[in-house]
Amino acid sequence: MHIVTLDSDTDFDGWRQAARALAMNNVKPADVTWRVQGETADLFDDQAETKLPEVPEGTFSVPASFVELAQSAILHRDQSRFGLLYRLLWRLRSNHDLMTIATDPDVAQAHAMARAVRRDEHKMHAFVRFREIGRERETRYVAWFEPEHHIVELAAPFFARRFADMPWSILTPDLCAHWDGSRVSFTPGVAKAEAPSEDRLEEVWRRYYASIFNPARLKVKAMEKEMPKKYWQNLPEASLIKPLITSATQRTGAMIAEPGTEPHKPQKRVEETAMTRKPKTKESKAYDDAGDLERLREEAAHCRACPLWKNATQTVFGEGPPHAPLMLVGEQPGDKEDLAGHPFVGPAGQMLDRALEEAGIDRTKVYVTNAVKHFKFVPRGKIRLHQKPATPEIKACRQWYEREVAAIRPALVVALGATAAQSVFGKITPVNKSRGHVVELPDGIKAIVTVHPSYLLRLPDAEAKAREYERFVEDLKLAGAAMKRSARAA
Ligand code: URA
Repeated sequence: MHIVTLDSDTDFDGWRQAARALAMNNVKPADVTWRVQGETADLFDDQAETKLPEVPEGTFSVPASFVELAQSAILHRDQSRFGLLYRLLWRLRSNHDLMTIATDPDVAQAHAMARAVRRDEHKMHAFVRFREIGRERETRYVAWFEPEHHIVELAAPFFARRFADMPWSILTPDLCAHWDGSRVSFTPGVAKAEAPSEDRLEEVWRRYYASIFNPARLKVKAMEKEMPKKYWQNLPEASLIKPLITSATQRTGAMIAEPGTEPHKPQKRVEETAMTRKPKTKESKAYDDAGDLERLREEAAHCRACPLWKNATQTVFGEGPPHAPLMLVGEQPGDKEDLAGHPFVGPAGQMLDRALEEAGIDRTKVYVTNAVKHFKFVPRGKIRLHQKPATPEIKACRQWYEREVAAIRPALVVALGATAAQSVFGKITPVNKSRGHVVELPDGIKAIVTVHPSYLLRLPDAEAKAREYERFVEDLKLAGAAMKRSARAA
């Protein structure tokens, strides 16, 4: 029996070196026990670590996909991961294509582990909340987080980029990460009692959360899935969740009961019916139900097709009914959307909600998404300044828009602004020239272009603002009518 002791739970290099030496000496997976330095007593505790055999002459190579997978899976908390990865490596020597067999139990298990690790990393990005301790020059921001897997080293660079100008520490039971403005360092894990609990940032978070909470769009199950209860204890806004849910029904009722704004007579609401759905096309056959959209969303959460993921908090995927007859496409998530993980929840979203309502379109029946799904910004002190996405970023992200369209099969797509138009039409499309008429796209989907709601927010002149807002509502009405026409013709 060979006993290999790795330096730490994340010691990929140590594992790789040992696995290579063992495999090249034909040591069978069943004859190796893997453990980590400092682990508590187990069956083999009284057995000394065995010396690794010499590496004989020669080499053998493994596919890059295996190395990439192993680097993620090794961060899983399951103790069996080292053995599983060694078994895969061993088997790859006689079957170089092993990694392409998705149904192989070892391959499937390693992928499941890597997925769990990535999900955990994503949750850490989204749910770490810093608390301010000390004052002025001594100020430091400290957060407590309990990761499921060994992801602190993996996730730390994200926080260094994102909160580059504030000194922070993330404390966890496994390992603590610290940023001093130029370098990330790590110290051993600590108990929760060492993390601060309340401070003045709490109130800011609570106010922010309450402001983006839209009772009309409340889906408790989906919310709990995205923000699992176990993270609530560290989220300042968590204390608001229960009261907001309780009051949501009353607030929704009140919103519906509110009188409509004159002089715009609301059109009949857009209902999702079999009539208003676009029939399946050949290419959309693969996408059948809400489950497909959920799978897309999960896949997009790990998108690395352009560098924008590095600084953004998370992918902000589209939202709405899986067979919505109408799809609205914006530019990219803004600061609030990036933090909340939902499209159009900030000021532009509020403007859009108002205009949709005036146009007689029920937002809960519409699928709302963005051409680019990560927030692009430059930090300016504590503010994150929005940056327009560049063409390579729009192109890199277009796959998600195409797959959303194929899954949903809307009767009509509305492009909000130039970036959305570029994605929807697949080429630069000036808004003013294309505005006001319905265009049929090569895939048979109909589309309309209008301005982006944040264009209206930026207009300095009140008169121009009111005029442009009216035009925007008119465009949305046109979209509502065109959608119904197109669905009837289908
Ligand atoms: N602007 C957009 O284009 N999309 C959002 O989700 C928010 C603001």
